[in-house]
Amino acid sequence: MGSISNLAIVYIFLLIATALTAVSATGSIFNVMDYGVKTDANSDNSPGFLKAWTEACAAAGAEVKVLVPKGDYGMGPVVFEGPCKASTIHFELQGTLKASTDLSKFKKDGWISFYRITGFKLSGGGVFDGQGASTWSKNSCSKQKNCNVLPVNIRFDYITNGHVSYVSSINSKMFHINILGCNDITLDHVTVTAPGESPNTDGIHLGDSTKVTITNCIIATGDDCVSIGSGSSHVIVDKVTCGPGHGISIGSLGRYPDEKDVTDITVTRIILKGTTNGVRIKTWQESPKETKVTNVIFKDITMQDVQFPLNIDQEYCPYASCGTKSPSKVKITNVQFNNIRGTSASKDAVKIVCSKGMPCEGVKLGDINLTYNGAQPTSICRSAHISAVGKVFPVSCST
Ligand SMILES: *[C@@H]1O[C@H](CO)[C@@H](O)[C@H](O)[C@H]1NC(C)=O
Repeated sequence: MGSISNLAIVYIFLLIATALTAVSATGSIFNVMDYGVKTDANSDNSPGFLKAWTEACAAAGAEVKVLVPKGDYGMGPVVFEGPCKASTIHFELQGTLKASTDLSKFKKDGWISFYRITGFKLSGGGVFDGQGASTWSKNSCSKQKNCNVLPVNIRFDYITNGHVSYVSSINSKMFHINILGCNDITLDHVTVTAPGESPNTDGIHLGDSTKVTITNCIIATGDDCVSIGSGSSHVIVDKVTCGPGHGISIGSLGRYPDEKDVTDITVTRIILKGTTNGVRIKTWQESPKETKVTNVIFKDITMQDVQFPLNIDQEYCPYASCGTKSPSKVKITNVQFNNIRGTSASKDAVKIVCSKGMPCEGVKLGDINLTYNGAQPTSICRSAHISAVGKVFPVSCST
């Protein structure tokens, strides 16, 4: 008898728990349309979006969602800030956000920022349209070192456990996506689009972050498709198509006094189409301190008319002149280039120019076949200890 009534109590308890879960599930969607937002590309909808976010962020639950239905929404700069109460806060963007073109509205260096959130999801098939065409002419950063910085389209700052999928960034004013101070974040099926001649529109830039995965992305833009900056570790870039653009790069590094090491970077299954560079590591001379780049793998890469397919450049200078120089103090160790094939658009397909002060150690070239106009291109190597495994065309400068 006693055990039966206990079972009944458990059963009733389960029914109540199920009912409560159902209620909290429907209550956990915060639709921006309920917060005075208008599908109007010319108004600034950021106050309504912020209200929806603030309420969602304060709501408890396993997953709480901010829903942005289809439509165009004009937006000034906005910071979606955590920490939030739910285990996961999910920003589901089905619509298109259109950035204000009035630069005086942007006090900080970002347009849409997701800031200090643990348990974050962004998805929905939507678009972040930076409307950068009207501001690209105001960018001087491609020509000089000290320049006014234009806002980044999407910032992920200090996100822990983040998942971003099926969203697009188009025509950003400067970088499309910036990942800073993140721990465990994945970008999957993210698309980036801007004209090849748009200045400093890097696709995805990351720094001071660990456990970053960038996969299934298609990037066509005016600067590096993916750039991996100071303080990055355990980064995987896999199945990315790049072009137009400046390729996949580690760096530039060795420019600022607060820089940190870069370690354990794996770049695999990449297709580069008509880019200025393929895969490269670039560091400045006259570095203010010593740092390291260690354990880098570039593997299974296809090049189609890439100007400089394989490149380590420790004399990086994107301007007409960078003045007289002491050698770079970034020490590069253990870099593999493996299974890399396709066509080079210049004669110098392999260029490994390391620091005269700190030569590269453990550079391995394996199974490389690059052609230039149907013939063998050349390779230039300096200050590097290189070994070749298997067939390598152009013939490597092994020492
Ligand atoms: C290198 O690639 C070219 C073009 O695809 C091809 O004709 C050539 O046989 C390849 N060489 C080797 C050694 O695989």
